Amino acid sequence: MNRPGRTLCGMTTTDQGPDRPATGRPGPAQSGTDRRDIAIAATGLRKAYGDRTVLDGIDLQVPAGTVFALLGPNGAGKTTVVSILSTLIRPDAGQLRVAGHDLAADPQAVRAAIGVTGQFSAVDGLITGEENMLLMADLNHLPKKEGRRVAAGLLERFGLTEAARKPAATYSGGMKRRLDIAMTLVGGPRIIFLDEPTTGLDPRSRHTMWQIVRDLVADGVTVFLTTQYLEEADQLADRIAVLDGGRLVAQGSAGELKRLVPGGHVRLRFTDPVAYERAAAALRETTRDDETFTLHIPSDGSQRELRAVLDWLDAADVVADELSVHTPDLDDVFFALTGNPATPRTAAEETLR
Ligand SMILES: Nc1ncnc2c1ncn2[C@@H]1O[C@H](COP(=O)(O)OP(=O)(O)OP(=O)(O)O)[C@@H](O)[C@H]1O
Ligand SMILES: [Mg+2]
Repeated sequence: MNRPGRTLCGMTTTDQGPDRPATGRPGPAQSGTDRRDIAIAATGLRKAYGDRTVLDGIDLQVPAGTVFALLGPNGAGKTTVVSILSTLIRPDAGQLRVAGHDLAADPQAVRAAIGVTGQFSAVDGLITGEENMLLMADLNHLPKKEGRRVAAGLLERFGLTEAARKPAATYSGGMKRRLDIAMTLVGGPRIIFLDEPTTGLDPRSRHTMWQIVRDLVADGVTVFLTTQYLEEADQLADRIAVLDGGRLVAQGSAGELKRLVPGGHVRLRFTDPVAYERAAAALRETTRDDETFTLHIPSDGSQRELRAVLDWLDAADVVADELSVHTPDLDDVFFALTGNPATPRTAAEETLR
């Protein structure tokens, strides 16, 4: 069996076969390598617009009942991947299987098995949330009574019962996004694609959305999501693939990806150039950033190592204006792999002054 994504960036990023979801969460895909256990598989996926190559040979596999996160900066090709896998646009090349069906041979069967929540809302603001839901029930050919039952159940599940009779245009961003996903679920899809489900949502709404995804997976649904939020992928995904310039530059669990970047460090920042130079001369094994007068001392961030670093600074009579501990996170992976300039991530740092 083809096992795409095993060697990336010159490193073996995974020891997980497609039959072993990356988390401890029991998935229905653990019992062998039967390809029915693979919800989504792409090999050699390519797409170009004119002479602009957008997807340059993508290989990925998503075991059933797991969450797969496709990460990438703007323009990386995330929406293009989702659009192709959900049959909305045609690829130029590649073998694609979704829900056990060959995408080229039987797109209709694929469409029947999936739900798609696009990057931009499918909600019609002029009609109520309930009417949007009933419209989806009609599109899914549900009998009227069944449609009303399913719509009411989903509106309840997503906390929209109270607002159900109000025009969707009056909903907040988070409510619209919840309605969007509720509409996607009307047909009871076993595989859903969520293209940036939490972009623009506040932290509380984002957490609500994460819970929705977790509940779906607990019900055995396979979720393929795209995101620009590293934390989101870290929180939700069994496997993460990083897309940049139309290629997958890394693929693995959050832990595996974090191991791709250099380890943590203690960061010392100085305002006085003379103190900075003196510290740089006194401390060995540091890397320096002369523009920001910052020194990085390799450290795993543990209490023991931090104490050793502090003792070492005292012994060298170095007093920094700011000291922070940095442990590698997915942001580091993202910035390292997608060529974007690194920016410090305050949430992962404990700043000690
Ligand atoms: N119909 C089209 N015609 C020409 N170019 C297109 C078309 N659709 C997408 N592209 C180009 O393909 C590239 C990838 O676009 P895509 O929308 O897949 O990126 P994305 O990763 O989803 O970005 P974002 O994070 O901004 O949503 C972009 O450079 C885009 O301009
Ligand atoms: Mg997009």
